[in-house]
Amino acid sequence: MFLFLSFVISLPPLVASFVHPGLLVSDSDISRTQKKIKANQDPWTTSWNTLTNLPFSDPSYTPSPVSAVYRSTWEDHTANAQLLWHDVAAAFNLGLRWKISGNTSCADAASNILHAWATTLISIDGGDDKYLTAGLQGYELANAAELLRDYQPFVDNVLPSVVEMANNVFIPMHYRWLNHEEPSEHNVLHFFANWELCNVASAMAMAVITDNQTVWDFAVNYFKTGDGTGAINNAITNIIEEPGTGVLLGQGQESGRDQGHSALDMQLFGVIGQQAWNQGEDLFAYNDSRILRGMEYFARYNLGNDVPFVPYTNGIVSYTEVSSASRGAIRPTWELLYNHYVMIKRMDAPWTTLYLNNTLDYYGGAEGGAGSWGEGSGHYDGLGWGSLLYRMDESDVIAPFPSKSASPTANPTSSASTTLNLAPSAMTTTTGASDQSAPVSHSATTNFAAVSTTPRTQTFASSTISDDNFPQLRGPKSHLRVPNKSLLEITWPQSEAIFKILYMYIYMYVCVCLLLYIVD
Ligand SMILES: *[C@@H]1O[C@H](CO)[C@@H](O)[C@H](O)[C@H]1NC(C)=O
Ligand SMILES: *[C@@H]1O[C@H](CO)[C@@H](O)[C@H](O)[C@H]1NC(C)=O
Ligand SMILES: *[C@@H]1O[C@H](CO)[C@@H](O)[C@H](O)[C@H]1NC(C)=O
Ligand SMILES: *[C@@H]1O[C@H](CO)[C@@H](O)[C@H](O)[C@H]1NC(C)=O
Ligand SMILES: *[C@@H]1O[C@H](CO)[C@@H](O)[C@H](O)[C@H]1NC(C)=O
Repeated sequence: MFLFLSFVISLPPLVASFVHPGLLVSDSDISRTQKKIKANQDPWTTSWNTLTNLPFSDPSYTPSPVSAVYRSTWEDHTANAQLLWHDVAAAFNLGLRWKISGNTSCADAASNILHAWATTLISIDGGDDKYLTAGLQGYELANAAELLRDYQPFVDNVLPSVVEMANNVFIPMHYRWLNHEEPSEHNVLHFFANWELCNVASAMAMAVITDNQTVWDFAVNYFKTGDGTGAINNAITNIIEEPGTGVLLGQGQESGRDQGHSALDMQLFGVIGQQAWNQGEDLFAYNDSRILRGMEYFARYNLGNDVPFVPYTNGIVSYTEVSSASRGAIRPTWELLYNHYVMIKRMDAPWTTLYLNNTLDYYGGAEGGAGSWGEGSGHYDGLGWGSLLYRMDESDVIAPFPSKSASPTANPTSSASTTLNLAPSAMTTTTGASDQSAPVSHSATTNFAAVSTTPRTQTFASSTISDDNFPQLRGPKSHLRVPNKSLLEITWPQSEAIFKILYMYIYMYVCVCLLLYIVD
């Protein structure tokens, strides 16, 4: 009888809901960052100063919305997608600035940018590359909106129009593209992985801001088992053994094409993995951590080492060897990837570790963010700010991993040769000194960080700076305290109506039994 009762009481909640903010940035990321900045620690402080001194993070930033966006010139329309990616970068940066500092001028400015676009944009148009804009700027835009989810003036006045834009413009495009409804997709492997991955990322992000479980499931299921290149098993085409060690590495779908686009795939894996992680779904671990295997392959090759290559064809292009074009490509994503696998999961990721070191040297110690490290579309494919948002030191991971902290020496990643040097003194090298490895030409780069002339001192609203740094340990989806993947997977299958019906049925049955028992 008592067993029955406790069974009934401990049943999981019936209604699915999303965690907010729950895309690229969680509340625990924000409180960790606040603590680090308050203590004047690097790289957080350096990164924060870079962020707050950008024109793209200034509350006086003025948006330039248009009704139709074109990524490239199309018929008599000129390319104007830079208007969107600049404004989205500003909305995200200002939202982040508000989250960290509590300065509502920043939240209002971010909210105004989103309002301007949500009430002006009607279509993303042009050739197939409109899907790149929908995917890349879509997930960024949704992430900017998600940051403001607990800013009431935004929720009351702007969020409904953003949701409408998501439902009218973005989500239908993600469905159309991932369902291969364009004539050019008659071969479902036609388009390179980044074209689909960005649409998966944006569908997930749009699902969260619209609270639409159907869209979320569509995107996550596509990533797991889709038939195109945006499904992880097709985006990482082959699992091969590393020469010498036998460690498994993942050859990328774009490895034979060039390294700049392969780097974009790594960046999008980071987005997809992080967005899912913050909703309690571990795509980073999916299929034997296939994302990690892909990162390790990429990093090993791009650091100047050989990699095995399995001939690739999709029926349109064929590659027989890994491409050295744009080898060493740098994109701001390695803090996220490194901190997830090495710091949170305690996994071995030696090439990723070295690649993070390499990219941090390039960025001068703190990973760049939207608008801080150059111009051109490639610099706006991701939001960056990894050193600010994802960097953890040992004190930050002890709490989420009580069992691991008891025996740190069992950690396979503790080998000194691959551990990143976290000393603040190492974070003072020259910014942007080298352009040897950027995927996009730096010759035409405008350095916005340098343009900004008046460094501002950010005032912290004391109420938002909290020493209570692990709010994630309280939430129902706080998987950080449960590192064991098999435990993570014991979650209620919220999306399946059949289970809900079954649930109701069992519940009623148990109640009737109880009643009969009591009446007896
Ligand atoms: C969720 O998205 C799907 C697919 O776009 C749509 O058919 C459905 O109406 C949406 N649900 C809600 C509640 O908006
Ligand atoms: C994992 O990848 C292998 C190929 O490397 C594939 O055969 C298998 O179906 C994949 N499993 C899942 C669950 O995706
Ligand atoms: C990268 O590694 C080198 C050599 O170990 C070290 O001197 C440098 O400080 C590291 N850079 C960062 C940003 O940790
Ligand atoms: C918020 O930021 C704006 C612009 O940087 C600044 O003028 C204002 O003083 C700040 N407000 C507070 C309360 O710190
Ligand atoms: C996770 O937990 C299960 C059940 O307790 C156990 O069998 C498994 O070995 C654990 N896995 C890891 C990686 O600790």
